[in-house]
Amino acid sequence: METEEKREKKKVNKIEQILDEDQDMLAEAKPFINLMMQYKCAIMEVETKLKVLDAEFSQEFNRNPFESIKSRLKSPASIYEKLRRKGYPITVESIEEHLADVAGIRVICSFPDDIYQLAELLTRQDDIIVLEKKDYIKKPKPNGYRSLHLILDIPIFLSHEKKHMKVEVQFRTIAMDFWASLEHKLKYKKNVKDAEEIVSQLKACSDSIEQLDYQMQEIRNKIDASKE
Ligand code: GTP
Ligand code: MG
Repeated sequence: METEEKREKKKVNKIEQILDEDQDMLAEAKPFINLMMQYKCAIMEVETKLKVLDAEFSQEFNRNPFESIKSRLKSPASIYEKLRRKGYPITVESIEEHLADVAGIRVICSFPDDIYQLAELLTRQDDIIVLEKKDYIKKPKPNGYRSLHLILDIPIFLSHEKKHMKVEVQFRTIAMDFWASLEHKLKYKKNVKDAEEIVSQLKACSDSIEQLDYQMQEIRNKIDASKE
């Protein structure tokens, strides 16, 4: 028969073991949590740069270079899934080495011209390096996807170091964003009825959107030229 004292001791041992395991888990999670904090800082840096340009444009030219900005940190589950899918090790170092889209910013502009102007103003700043550029506006994907993608290297200044971080910035017009949101729904749905027809309708919409974007821009340019 177990005495009361023995049972209590067993309970305490069990609790101590759980606490030790939690400590181990926390110690392992700390570098990951730190890295996520650093990506968040990198997002803040790029967002601030965009907001500075917005403030200047509003003041100087009475117009806004973008409509809205959306930012996101890739979730731990998506990070894990992408590393596994691509056959990379599941480590903090591997995230930094192999993933360029942990920090993501989407800049939604009204007109295609604004996209190129804003991207140029941002990337010519002397603390930013463009690591990769994919222009799916000039060369849309076969499904009709259009956006300008940049992978940027931007420094963040921590208390003891200056660290270079990767940030993915996607520039789109409102219309391109509208299209991408709808198309995204198709991509993540399995066994869609009439999928082939939907794909071709989406492609047709993308072509219409391209025309619309440039027509709207022409109108804007005419209005601007007739001012004063
Ligand atoms: P991964 O980064 O491995 O996904 O491949 P990649 O670097 O070749 O990707 P790419 O730069 O072409 O696209 C990266 C991101 O752009 C995706 O995560 C989406 O957010 C967006 N994207 C790219 N293609 C499409 C598309 O066909 N439809 C939609 N809705 N979004 C897209
Ligand atoms: Mg990518």
